[in-house]
Amino acid sequence: MSIKTATLNGVATIEIARPEKKNALTVAMYQAMADAINAAAADGAVRAVLITGQPGIFTSGNDIEDFMARPPGQGSDAMDSPVFRFMRALMECDKPVVAAVTGAAIGIGTTMLLHCDFVYVSDEARLAMPFVSLGLVPEFASSLLVPQLMGNVRAAEKLLLGDPFTGQQAVDCGIASAVLPPGEVVGHARRMAERFNALPPGAVREAKQLLRGPQREALLKTIRQEGELFGKRLRSAEAMEAFQAFFQKRKPDFSKFQ
Ligand code: COA
Repeated sequence: MSIKTATLNGVATIEIARPEKKNALTVAMYQAMADAINAAAADGAVRAVLITGQPGIFTSGNDIEDFMARPPGQGSDAMDSPVFRFMRALMECDKPVVAAVTGAAIGIGTTMLLHCDFVYVSDEARLAMPFVSLGLVPEFASSLLVPQLMGNVRAAEKLLLGDPFTGQQAVDCGIASAVLPPGEVVGHARRMAERFNALPPGAVREAKQLLRGPQREALLKTIRQEGELFGKRLRSAEAMEAFQAFFQKRKPDFSKFQ
């Protein structure tokens, strides 16, 4: 199991720990993260959730081998897959969720940050949403939230070209709360999470619902639309070329596609 969990001083920590594969997320890891968030939400001793990675890597996104071998189902089946369960648990968590982005955050590594309440990023981190480069489309409402946060033209750089961006750029465009030196990210994020020990949990819960509630239906509708396309794209020849190129350590060749 490559997800470590621990609860200490009111904070439930979910640590992505698969450094040998750059913290790529497998089906089992999504399930473990979904279970951990749901358990934290139900545990009266927990005031906030902290999601973190390893030094130099937050996560390289979905495990590409898993994408090829075990793509999430299509249509209503997809909504029951572990990645959807994880993202639903994250979106519906009524306690504050803090992310400590210890290094690169790619694909869903960046997408999940859009659904966290506080995001602290190492100044060496690079974020990227290279879905199109992989023959895929944006996921989990990033196609709605990213343009909302930064405007259409900056969103196009990140979602159509998949251009990587720095922690400081993530702060400037409203994805992250602050940039910190690599050795300070987790400690700072934990201290921020622990601040909820001194706040009234009922008011925090209701305030978070008010902040997130108005867009909930629009987000869910977008997630369903994106999910339909994403499921089809995962099985496309363009995606196969991109995935094979990744494992063969070469550039993909999309010249034959129309
Ligand atoms: N899925 C599966 N395996 C992955 C992976 C992923 N998302 N990301 C990294 N790995 C594996 C590599 O295949 C490699 O395995 P190997 O040692 O058996 O060859 C190992 O992790 C180390 O990765 P490597 O690419 O050699 O490290 P790097 O430091 O040169 O680059 C990244 C790190 C994160 C920039 C690079 O691995 C990367 O671009 N990963 C893919 C990111 C991506 O496109 N994610 C989006 C998925 S939607």
